[in-house]
Amino acid sequence: MSTVHVFDHPLIQHKLSIMRDEKTGPKEFRELLTEISTLMAFEVTRDLPLKEVVVKTPICETRTNMIAGKKLAIVPILRAGLGMVDGIRSLVPTAKVGHIGLYRDPKTLEPVEYYCKLPADAEEREILLVDPMLATGGSSSAAIGFIKKRGCTNIKLVSLIAAPEGIARVQEDHPDVDIFVAHVDEKLNEHGYIVPGLGDAGDRLFGTK
Ligand code: PRP
Ligand code: URA
Repeated sequence: MSTVHVFDHPLIQHKLSIMRDEKTGPKEFRELLTEISTLMAFEVTRDLPLKEVVVKTPICETRTNMIAGKKLAIVPILRAGLGMVDGIRSLVPTAKVGHIGLYRDPKTLEPVEYYCKLPADAEEREILLVDPMLATGGSSSAAIGFIKKRGCTNIKLVSLIAAPEGIARVQEDHPDVDIFVAHVDEKLNEHGYIVPGLGDAGDRLFGTK
């Protein structure tokens, strides 16, 4: 069974509360999502391996550590996942970015794929799949399935808010994928929206509603 990492850091919880507020507009919503993604990336990348290097300071030569060249790819699920890319990239500027286009059919709640473009060497990279909302888990589970079909074996799912139902679905379908979330909310409503959640993340990010 995979591990669910929940971030209880006060800065993350404070910023998330502002994002939840229906009065928060797209500009602030986007900025806060970027900030939280940066803070989450700090922990999500905690297990990156290091290698020893020699650096000459103005004083002397010293042995010190750098990241061991392990390659990362950030893969947002369109559209709302786009809002998490810049924050993570600000810490890992060499990460490549793939894209998976999925939308949730409003009637069946099943994911419909419309786009998939991953880095050519995706299978050699650790994949950070990002989507702020893990609701039924259908979209994330399908996206992980596409990524695995491309030969990727090292995948982490990074979300902002998860419903217990979404976590259970991803854990059942992909027990090898660890999940990182800022908060686990109470439940889904009859329309498949997270309660209390923050509404439709894509619409709030891009001002489409
Ligand atoms: C939202 C969200 C997730 C999905 C979560 O996307 O960004 O991708 O729903 O729901 P699920 O866990 O039940 O699959 P949406 O389909 O609204 O598309 P959008 O980002 O283009 O608005
Ligand atoms: N997608 C969203 O954007 N919000 C939810 O609460 C559920 C799915």
